[in-house]
Amino acid sequence: MTDAGEALAAAARVLAAAGVESARADAELLLAHELGESRGRVQALALTGGDVDRDALARFARLVERRADREPLQHLTGRAAFRTVELAVGPGVFVPRPETEVVAQLAIDAARGMEAPVVVDLATGSGAIALAVAAEVPAAAVTGVERNAAALAWAQRNAADLALPNARIAQGDLADALPELDGGVDVVVSNPPYIPDGMIPRDPEVRLHDPADALFGGPDGLDPMRAVVATAVRLLRAGGLLVVEHGEHQGEAVRALLDPAVWGAPATHPDLTGRDRATTARRR
Ligand SMILES: C[S@@+](CC[C@H](N)C(=O)[O-])C[C@H]1O[C@@H](n2cnc3c(N)ncnc32)[C@H](O)[C@@H]1O
Repeated sequence: MTDAGEALAAAARVLAAAGVESARADAELLLAHELGESRGRVQALALTGGDVDRDALARFARLVERRADREPLQHLTGRAAFRTVELAVGPGVFVPRPETEVVAQLAIDAARGMEAPVVVDLATGSGAIALAVAAEVPAAAVTGVERNAAALAWAQRNAADLALPNARIAQGDLADALPELDGGVDVVVSNPPYIPDGMIPRDPEVRLHDPADALFGGPDGLDPMRAVVATAVRLLRAGGLLVVEHGEHQGEAVRALLDPAVWGAPATHPDLTGRDRATTARRR
């Protein structure tokens, strides 16, 4: 047996030395995962000098090593929290990010004001936005669209696990998705790939573990966005809302993709850290 507090402190030192920003939190979450306990229970264990058995500790040490090699925390635990839903994630799918929770909020706020809204999430990845909208707006009928086979399998698994009656996942290219819904959609939301091809993501978790298909969007990063806008023109009814996530310096370029003859009220919104990360517009 070893003291949980000591094990956590040692793990946090290893992770901090490896450049992991949230070293202590990650250590707590990994130990919680290993013990099948909540993070709060692990924190309590550390405060009260509780012990952890040697086998569990050896497995924890192995997880800490992998995290120090900059494997994403969510790949090690297999889970990612996104708003009100918890998703299974792992190799082959983009790990949902906190800033996307704000993008989903914009879609949820719009859908909540409608009677039986039809919502489409283009490029759904793990299903994060689609499934959160479906969970938080039970009156909505939500479809998530994903092209990549590996990501699609994660989204389908999450949809099956959550068993929301108002959510479905469809395989397809966002460029020609869901023609049966043309002109009948109330909200189109999307977090497409938007990193310019030549840019190398700084964090190893992103560079080495997020699928390239989820990251890169052509020479200026906006090729998928152009397809999202064109598909939204086709899918949305008059007055329907488009909500897209983009890079912090892309707000102006994204608004420039929105032809004023087709789109009204274009607006770019900051995320929780004040960076411009989402743009909305209404189909005329
Ligand atoms: C940045 S990830 C976002 C995933 C998810 N929406 C989220 O926010 O966590 C972009 C996703 O777009 C998918 N994708 C890329 N090109 C696509 C296309 N042409 N049609 C459909 N999905 C596409 C990728 O496979 C990836 O899952």
